[in-house]
Amino acid sequence: MKEQYKVGIIGATGMVGQRFATLLENHPWFHVTALAASSRSAGKTYTEAVGKRWAMATAIPDSMKDMVLFDAEKDVDKITSLVDFVFCAVDMKKDEIRKLEETYAKAECPVMSNNSAHRFTPDVPMIIPEINPEHAEIIPAQRKRLGTKRGFVAVKSNCSLQSYVPALNALKDLGITKALACTYQAISGAGKTFETFPDILDNVIPYIGGEEEKSEQEPLKIWGHIEGDQIVTATSPSITAQCLRVPVSDGHMAAVFASFEKKASLDEIIQRWESYTGEPQKLNLPSAPKQFLHYFTEADRPQTKLDRNLENGMAVSVGRLRPDTQYDIKFVSLSHNTLRGAAGGAVLMAELLAAKGYLD
Ligand SMILES: NC(=O)c1ccc[n+]([C@@H]2O[C@H](COP(=O)([O-])OP(=O)(O)OC[C@H]3O[C@@H](n4cnc5c(N)ncnc54)[C@H](OP(=O)(O)O)[C@@H]3O)[C@@H](O)[C@H]2O)c1
Repeated sequence: MKEQYKVGIIGATGMVGQRFATLLENHPWFHVTALAASSRSAGKTYTEAVGKRWAMATAIPDSMKDMVLFDAEKDVDKITSLVDFVFCAVDMKKDEIRKLEETYAKAECPVMSNNSAHRFTPDVPMIIPEINPEHAEIIPAQRKRLGTKRGFVAVKSNCSLQSYVPALNALKDLGITKALACTYQAISGAGKTFETFPDILDNVIPYIGGEEEKSEQEPLKIWGHIEGDQIVTATSPSITAQCLRVPVSDGHMAAVFASFEKKASLDEIIQRWESYTGEPQKLNLPSAPKQFLHYFTEADRPQTKLDRNLENGMAVSVGRLRPDTQYDIKFVSLSHNTLRGAAGGAVLMAELLAAKGYLD
């Protein structure tokens, strides 16, 4: 791997793009050299283009505030000449995103994507670095299809499942037969703040378009395996989900129920969570949490406001484990949706791919 990589942020003005900007400001390996968004923002400085939409707790990074934005669709050649790879989080139609991301990949510019458009493309890895780092091994097959030497697309999964799939994954050797998850999702997941989404105040909205399907199906790709030139999705466990929008700024919480082929005591389950470690911890990647899963013994934890920023928003908090009358166990879990669930998860994925040589 190289010591430093030049990176671009496509969709820099959006909620996830802003997170990328703040996370990459002082990153030890990645240095932002290009920002891009729609034609509405192109030609403006980052400060002008973001305007009142800046929703981060810290100011726009000094190193980026005067950078002039490119048009992500029209300026592909300029952008790819300035960067080693790009992060991408855009609000566009799925077929447009698929085309945009493949255009960058075919210009020999790897794409670390937060978008859902390519999540079910069979040779595009969908990576949670602590769970399925080996799916990166599909990249040579994707490069062959695209006719590229360097370029490829890698995606991160939806933010909703980031709260419960890690906790379930630590119990996978028990043979998960079925799981049910109800998620309580923050408004930043819709790219909104309380100012731009007044209808959410004193309210719960019981529908997030497409979210339940993603929550049920994406874990099966993550738990799938490589066969030839594609990732074959797993056929179990069966997962059912309901996703609700709740009036919190950041942090997706999940109430989870699960059953297993083999039985384990509650203490053994907590032990599996607390000792769970993955490739990012072994490689000591810059954004990796020291401990991926934290179990809280207090009856009223984890709480969204108190615990979403655990380990810089990259750890997953779990609590309230107990036996259930319909399933074997139930518990609550929480992750920060724009950090671990979006930009932070993509930065960690890029660190993993850099460490494994896929970004050279
Ligand atoms: N928010 C989350 O927690 C979260 C989590 C996981 C994944 N995601 C995914 O990340 C993506 C972005 O989400 P977001 O919440 O950041 O959305 P957002 O706040 O609405 O931002 C959308 C971004 O897309 C840009 N854009 C729109 N049309 C474009 C075009 N034709 N060409 C280039 N850029 C264009 C916008 O640029 P302008 O400012 O110029 O319009 C803006 O930078 C979505 O695919 C979403 O599903 C979001």
